[in-house]
Amino acid sequence: MDITLLAPATARDALAAGATRAAMVETRDGPRHLILVGAEDGARAYLNSCPHQGVRLDWQPGVFLDVEGTHLQCSMHGALFALADGHCVSGPCVGRALHAVPLQELDGLLGIAHETTLPASAR
Ligand code: FES
Repeated sequence: MDITLLAPATARDALAAGATRAAMVETRDGPRHLILVGAEDGARAYLNSCPHQGVRLDWQPGVFLDVEGTHLQCSMHGALFALADGHCVSGPCVGRALHAVPLQELDGLLGIAHETTLPASAR
């Protein structure tokens, strides 16, 4: 399987459980901005695009967590998303979810399969 690595290059083990980071990946359809979330069983990735209005979630570049550090929080209207699955648990998009991005690994670095197609993300 051909893999496109994330930018900046991100090691599989770089994220502690509950930690978050912004990343970008070049797809066939252009760049896509991602939210990386560390977990005990491996990193997860979501498209950095709120299902409410399609904006980036970051409060500041790369800052995604609420004050308790337990959920991703959208900076626009405060929707809260579960770290484990990206589902919105509070706010204007309850019942919807962040778009999960399947991660692959190459030599310990994270990326996505070349054939992965993703909807546009906010810039
Ligand atoms: S745009 Fe994210 S909660 Fe409204």
